[in-house]
Amino acid sequence: MSPDFITLGIETSCDDTAAALIRGGREVLCDALSSQIRDHSPYGGVLPELASRKHLEALIPLVRSVMSEAGAAPRDIDLIAVTAGPGLMGSLLVGVMAAKALSQGWGTPLIGVNHLEGHLFAGTAAHPELKPPFLCLIASGGHTEIVLAREDRDYTLLGGTRDDAAGEAYDKAAKLLGLGYPGGPEIERLARTGDPGSYSFPVAMKGIKSAEFSFSGVKTSLRTLVENMKKNGREIPVSDICASFQKSVTESLLSKIEFASSQTGVKRVSISGGVSANTALREGLAALGRKNGWEVFLPPKKYCTDNAVMIAAAGYAAYHSGERSDLSLTPNPAWSIWKR
Ligand code: KG4
Ligand code: ZN
Repeated sequence: MSPDFITLGIETSCDDTAAALIRGGREVLCDALSSQIRDHSPYGGVLPELASRKHLEALIPLVRSVMSEAGAAPRDIDLIAVTAGPGLMGSLLVGVMAAKALSQGWGTPLIGVNHLEGHLFAGTAAHPELKPPFLCLIASGGHTEIVLAREDRDYTLLGGTRDDAAGEAYDKAAKLLGLGYPGGPEIERLARTGDPGSYSFPVAMKGIKSAEFSFSGVKTSLRTLVENMKKNGREIPVSDICASFQKSVTESLLSKIEFASSQTGVKRVSISGGVSANTALREGLAALGRKNGWEVFLPPKKYCTDNAVMIAAAGYAAYHSGERSDLSLTPNPAWSIWKR
């Protein structure tokens, strides 16, 4: 593995268009992201058709800008790594087709990256000392999963969600409270001035011996509370509700990480995905780590949400373990690489 090996990462699986250049497995040369939040926020969620059109507009200028900022020419790029799933089909197609065109035009090797494996690499790229075996909670808008990385690139799914993902629950709760999209950062901001003990929302699956999650109950409970308050003409105490809701979701996530660690005996723990940018979760995990003697690895917030650095890092690892893609690479919106 040459330390001078340069990978171009491309990420378009949902509503963020991202491109990055890394040297070796983790040194970031340039990292850029074009967010579609403002385009989707009037709809309270991601509109798939709009997302693909926006990727189409943003991607090539973004690739050009990371290349020129890093002073890189096409001949300097050793690998193109692109998210090929899971995600929205139209969004994935834009990234994969662009990556294939660049690969063919430049004569550069191509690798299709699993987006969730990318999230795992947000931790390992930021913390080189994070080595298997380790546990990783991936909590985003589409996924809530605890994965055991047994060895390099050998993953077992310990548990997922039975209904909504954690980020989806944040987004739906925010919508019910009349807040903007994405809901997580808004709820976190308002929760700072609220009392988390004001309302006791359910912590689903707590105490049940499984690493599975469920977030539909807390969402329904919040909806019922808000509807009753509105019916009775009461003012909605938004900050208190946000703080109580955040407490319930965080407790659920932490309790399942604790279960997974006790089941597997693994004491190295990482988190990734948009929800892992949440300060209450990060502080809660750090405290749980101190209590249980875990080594806790928190990727910088910037690399918790979708980005192309994690895709480049995962692509670099896949390529150097012998994987290759070619022009037959096709996006797979439901692609899973976990063993069960
Ligand atoms: O990983 P990500 O950027 O995109 C997906 O792959 O889904 O995650 C986005 C999700 C959204 O649901 C958003 O509300 C949530 O992550 N999120 C947060 C925070 N920042 C983003 N949830 C809680 N607290 C945050 N600070
Ligand atoms: Zn993601």
